[in-house]
Amino acid sequence: METNKILGAIILALLLLALFSKTGEMLVHPDYPEETAYKIDVPEEGSQNESFEETVDPFENLPDILSLLQIASLENGEKLSKKCATCHSFDNGGANKAGPNLWDIVNRQKARKDGFAYSAAISKFGGDWNYTELNKFLLKPKKYIEGTKMNFNGLKKDSDRADLIIWLRSLSDAPVPLN
Ligand code: HEC
Repeated sequence: METNKILGAIILALLLLALFSKTGEMLVHPDYPEETAYKIDVPEEGSQNESFEETVDPFENLPDILSLLQIASLENGEKLSKKCATCHSFDNGGANKAGPNLWDIVNRQKARKDGFAYSAAISKFGGDWNYTELNKFLLKPKKYIEGTKMNFNGLKKDSDRADLIIWLRSLSDAPVPLN
């Protein structure tokens, strides 16, 4: 009687064990080989793009600004200039505010507006504000000229920068040619 009970318990235990290990195998086993092979041989496109964005210089891969200027919107540029107007005046002879007056800014030498105290960063940067330079600066001012005191995050959209630049170009007695 006692022996039968023990034997029964052992058989039950063995049955349960067999059942569980079989179920476990069914649940887990089939996925392993496929996934490992996939991850090693074919990197996911998503992860590739992430490292691409981290390593590539954002200023070297902008679309050609001259082509964008051909189709840019002066009206939208004027609207966007309101973002700048707290710190910049745009009229001929206008006063410097937190930032320098921007009349006739296209092709002006950087950091050359009389009576404005520029940061060392922008004073030392060199070159003119041609279309390409404006396009880079307005994308991410503080990244393009590290240490600038222009406290503005930038305009992400390529077409927005083109619209704003075509409007800045109009602030002149002799606008710089578009070629
Ligand atoms: C929060 C204030 C602020 C805003 C907003 C701002 N700027 Fe400026 N900007 C400055 C300051 C300050 C400087 C001088 C930077 C320095 O000395 O480092 C400057 C410099 C510049 C220069 C270089 C001028 C030169 O003589 O070399 C340009 C071009 C310019 N800003 C364009 C813009 C445009 C376009 C916008 C709007 C999209 C804008 N800024 C928005 C404060 C601002």
